[in-house]
Amino acid sequence: MKSPSSFDEGDFDFCGNNIRVSHLGVEMSLRSEIAKLRKEVRGELKKVSSLEELDTLWVRVLGRKGKLTSLTRELGRLSSTERPTVGKMVNELRQAFETSFAEKRRELERELRERKLEKETLDITLPGKLPQLGGKHLITQIIEEVIRIFIGLGYQVAEGPEVELDYYNFEALNTPPDHPARSLQDTFYIRRKGERPMAEDVLLRTHTSPVQVRVMEKTKPPIYIIAPGRAYRHDVPDPTHSPMFHQIEGLAVDRNITFGDLKGTLEVFAREMFGGERKVRLRPHFFPFTEPSAEVDVSCIICDGKGCRVCKYSGWLEILGAGMVDPNVLENVGYDTEEITGFAFGMGVERIAMLKYGVSDIRLFFENDVRFLKQF
Ligand code: PHE
Repeated sequence: MKSPSSFDEGDFDFCGNNIRVSHLGVEMSLRSEIAKLRKEVRGELKKVSSLEELDTLWVRVLGRKGKLTSLTRELGRLSSTERPTVGKMVNELRQAFETSFAEKRRELERELRERKLEKETLDITLPGKLPQLGGKHLITQIIEEVIRIFIGLGYQVAEGPEVELDYYNFEALNTPPDHPARSLQDTFYIRRKGERPMAEDVLLRTHTSPVQVRVMEKTKPPIYIIAPGRAYRHDVPDPTHSPMFHQIEGLAVDRNITFGDLKGTLEVFAREMFGGERKVRLRPHFFPFTEPSAEVDVSCIICDGKGCRVCKYSGWLEILGAGMVDPNVLENVGYDTEEITGFAFGMGVERIAMLKYGVSDIRLFFENDVRFLKQF
């Protein structure tokens, strides 16, 4: 407590007694307190910089124990003539405070909103983040291209299992038990669950030709199908060998199918696939499941038949094996070989990709190095 001076008002300690000095009159004292509070609050409001600070100040001024509230209580000490004027002043001050607090609140909220908006603004001048778009593997592209060509000729796409029975892979395809392809050195055989030694009737198909048999077993002629898929051979990887590779099988079975139909079909395919000027050449060959059989060449797609490194200066590139479906195969599926004939062909997809794009190592297709794959 302070010591009394002639100009002070309020509660003072006088020789241990609390006395109230009001020589200017309670009214005067309240009036000056009102003025003081008005000034004080105005100053503090200016300093407020957050909604939390505003709330604290509100409690301190207008709250139940706030300064204005205690001022209001002081009104009781006024005489009934003084009370209405001073009371009005206090009410006006409360209203003024309420208005300026509300104003301040709006201002703070607006600032907060603006700051938030600023933070969340999209900078449309920033370069966008391009999602990495994948592309189709060259092998897939070639398969799709071949399918497109044959669909145009009225063929349908067929598929068969990669884990195949010896019956479909060899036996039904007229391949004798002592054929070298059936040896453990050439074919991956599968051990059946719980069975030992290896049962030699389940294997990874060594070509897509078993699809021929599977389709013929289930369908009556006419059949015009193309069957793309993976095949497996027990080979050590090197620039021209991969234990897994892709083939596309073709099969046409109908009445009156001739060797001429085979050649015509392959010519159309070669021109569509490799360009209008391609010539096709058939060389006698042997496959157990076709008779006669041929290896099929196209005029070199690099040098146009003049001779270059890719065609080893022969002017020709071997692209597939083909032939007339052997009557034994047709009989195995119950067809009447007096009525029904057919041709079949099979091509290596990697080989075509390598010839078309000058890729010198088949292993590149399966190493999954995007720097290689991205080029196609
Ligand atoms: N299946 C043979 C191979 O993998 C290719 C072929 C298919 C030959 C159809 C003739 C007829 O070599």
